[in-house]
Amino acid sequence: MRRLAVGAVFAVVVIGALLVIGQGGPAEPLPGQPLRALGNAKGIVVGTAVREDQQRKNRAYRELIAAQFQSVTPENEMKWYLLQPEQGRFTFEAADRVVKEALDAGQTVRGHSLVFHGQLPLWVGKLGRRELEGAMRAHIAEVMRHYAGRVGVWDVVNEALLDDGGLRPSPFLKRLGSGYIGEAFGLARKADPKAKLYINEIGAEGINAKSNRLYRLVRDLKSQGAPIDGVGFQTHFNLGGVPDGFVDNMRRFEALGLEIALTEADVGLPVPPTTEQLEAQSQVYARIVESCLAVKACKSLTFWGFTDGRSWIPETQPGMGAATLLDEQLRPKPAFAAVQRALSG
Ligand code: XIL
Repeated sequence: MRRLAVGAVFAVVVIGALLVIGQGGPAEPLPGQPLRALGNAKGIVVGTAVREDQQRKNRAYRELIAAQFQSVTPENEMKWYLLQPEQGRFTFEAADRVVKEALDAGQTVRGHSLVFHGQLPLWVGKLGRRELEGAMRAHIAEVMRHYAGRVGVWDVVNEALLDDGGLRPSPFLKRLGSGYIGEAFGLARKADPKAKLYINEIGAEGINAKSNRLYRLVRDLKSQGAPIDGVGFQTHFNLGGVPDGFVDNMRRFEALGLEIALTEADVGLPVPPTTEQLEAQSQVYARIVESCLAVKACKSLTFWGFTDGRSWIPETQPGMGAATLLDEQLRPKPAFAAVQRALSG
């Protein structure tokens, strides 16, 4: 009996210790003013992509999100493959946790993303035209109604274009034709009339074939009455820097009466980076902030992750990484101070 009791106590202690270790220690506070406060003072909502599993398991990661950012974007948890892995079966749990955590921290949430060729469950690709149209309608309605009042902004259509300015041959384009874009916006407005609706694009920051096409697409959709509120520029950069014409490009979209958000900023480096490269990276980050500050309609700047330990760049681009503001140990890199300075400037 006594042995049993000792064993039980031992087990409780071990499990407890493992839980605490799993949670990690508290975050080392970062120097200077939190990014969210600096952004708020300038009228810019500063956000980050978050990963639900890390947020749940890693205390320092969770604390830094709450302390530093005014808005969050679930990095993957609101993508179709995680929200609707089988047709008609919606799994909101992970995304719900991110949303709750954000609201508890006084943050807003950007929903990402409703109609996107990437990270689709296999079943979507097997649908015919009528079925896919029904599935798109059901997905947008179900997801946006679920989050109505809690998620105020949505990337309704993500990465619809190719670099050469053509429409990307996604299952949506192939089955539904080019009208799917306008249709998705109409469905989104119906599902949650209060949400801001964005079209989000990668590689359309400079004035180039893609951004020219995006401009014509959005202008034409708007003139046909499609409810588009804003344009998101992902701003995935590297040491090539901020493309010339970024500010002018944002301004022509602004002139269409649209809001602008920089939605996924990061600056990939060759790994391991040199001191000079970290310095150059900090300047690219500063220019991203300055570019947003230069455009009245740009009121939102989200980083695509905030620690090099949890970033898609090393996970998807061999030889590249170190793309975020903090290193793998959550210590500030030169880029962190550069962003603080640029936000204070
Ligand atoms: C990326 C995530 O960061 C990765 O974790 C995932 O494996 C693939 O997708 N453009 C987008 C984002 O709109 O959804 C992508 O996110 C990065 C590029």
